[in-house]
Amino acid sequence: MASIQDYLFDTALLTATLAYLADHHGLTVTVHDSSGQPLLRHGPGHADADGASQFHPFRFVSDIGGLTCAAESEQALTNAAPHIAFALTVLDSQLEREVELRETSEEMLQLSSQLNFLYKLARKIIGIDDLARCYEIILSEISQAIGADHAMIATKGRWEEKIQVSYNLTPQQRTAIESRPSFKNAAGGGTIIFTCEDGASLLYSPIKEKEGHSGYVVFARTRDHRFFSAYEKKFVSIIENIISPTFETLRLYDSLQDLYLNTVKALAAAIDAKDEYTHGHSFRVAKYTIAIGRHLDIDQKQLNDLEIAAYMHDLGKIGISEAILGKPGKLTAEEFREIRRHPEFTDKILQPIKLPAFIVDAAVQHHERLDGTGYPLGLAGENISSFARVIAVADVFDALTSKRPYRDALSVEEALRILCDGIDIKFDRTVVLAFLRALNHEEGRGEMLATINVNLQFAAIQNLNTFLIELADFIINKESLRPSA
Ligand SMILES: [Fe+2]
Repeated sequence: MASIQDYLFDTALLTATLAYLADHHGLTVTVHDSSGQPLLRHGPGHADADGASQFHPFRFVSDIGGLTCAAESEQALTNAAPHIAFALTVLDSQLEREVELRETSEEMLQLSSQLNFLYKLARKIIGIDDLARCYEIILSEISQAIGADHAMIATKGRWEEKIQVSYNLTPQQRTAIESRPSFKNAAGGGTIIFTCEDGASLLYSPIKEKEGHSGYVVFARTRDHRFFSAYEKKFVSIIENIISPTFETLRLYDSLQDLYLNTVKALAAAIDAKDEYTHGHSFRVAKYTIAIGRHLDIDQKQLNDLEIAAYMHDLGKIGISEAILGKPGKLTAEEFREIRRHPEFTDKILQPIKLPAFIVDAAVQHHERLDGTGYPLGLAGENISSFARVIAVADVFDALTSKRPYRDALSVEEALRILCDGIDIKFDRTVVLAFLRALNHEEGRGEMLATINVNLQFAAIQNLNTFLIELADFIINKESLRPSA
């Protein structure tokens, strides 16, 4: 039997709603499950036969029961009708929010586990140029991730040669599987789960080429184990995309990097979606960060790591209530304290993934400031990760040039002036200068900014270049703004 309590985490709201209708409108309110069984009751206890009563189904899903409101007379029930409708709307929207939050959390967990897996896999195959060895590692890692007893790949090598790699299978066992009629039937189709004649569960995935297939990968569970699930099938189809017979090791690694970055982007998009006012924030911060990084002494490998850290910098906002993130107005001191906890949550989310410490530090320390007035740790100067100092500038620039519930977006020039005023105090001088250089780059200028954020406002776009040069000169020629010790 379905009931509202199966969907509602917070039953306090339901109890408070019943009390509101009972205490303020004299109703006796009973909550029923989908079979009509009473679950909760509030009120003076009108028997339905004494007066009037009316049943109101919950509207959220087709049948999770409803409320019966009883009153001493038809008139009393009619008078209470708007309040009953209001109570139902409040419960409906609470149900919607809770279900949405549950779905987002599940999606985040799945993405996190894929992210973790891809990261470990990428690190294991870096530098291995023997394709068969790469396949062995991939088979073994995926088999352990999805609990497969055996696995095998049949495909072509870089020079069209036949490659066969097995995990926990003797050549005889492999031949036995491949000669099963059910296996032959599966060959050539999409990723499928099927049961072999001997009761084993098989997960078969074709290896795709630009046109057609060039082989297959198969994972097997012997009959004593449970069958593969839909989630494991999806997991394997995602991973399968990286197993192509024509991949050279470098291409394989690059593809994993892409897939890894795409998973990070999906996580960032989930965070941005939580807050309508900062929609797209993580993406823009990543773009500004990379633009700055290109004008610092950072190589391509480090730029990739920096980009990942930038996408993840606000990951911890998943732990902050949407009511606070999207609050239309100034935050209370308590709410502000709550928001300032997001770097701490980012740290907690990233710790189990075991990313290199410098990537985690770069994400977690983006609100630290040179003079030690930042958070979460109040680090100062060189103690702040150099990557975090880059993300901090990108983050503040995007925050200033974006509209907030309590203020309009600042122009590019105003935002840059604020960054410049903060050099040596809050922001790293070399980072701010690199940002100005990136904006003033021949191929950059206003065009680069416009591709990142079409809503940017300029005080006078035709004078932007002059403004950028003047600002850079001002910084370079000015003595250090750091307060003397
Ligand atoms: Fe942040």
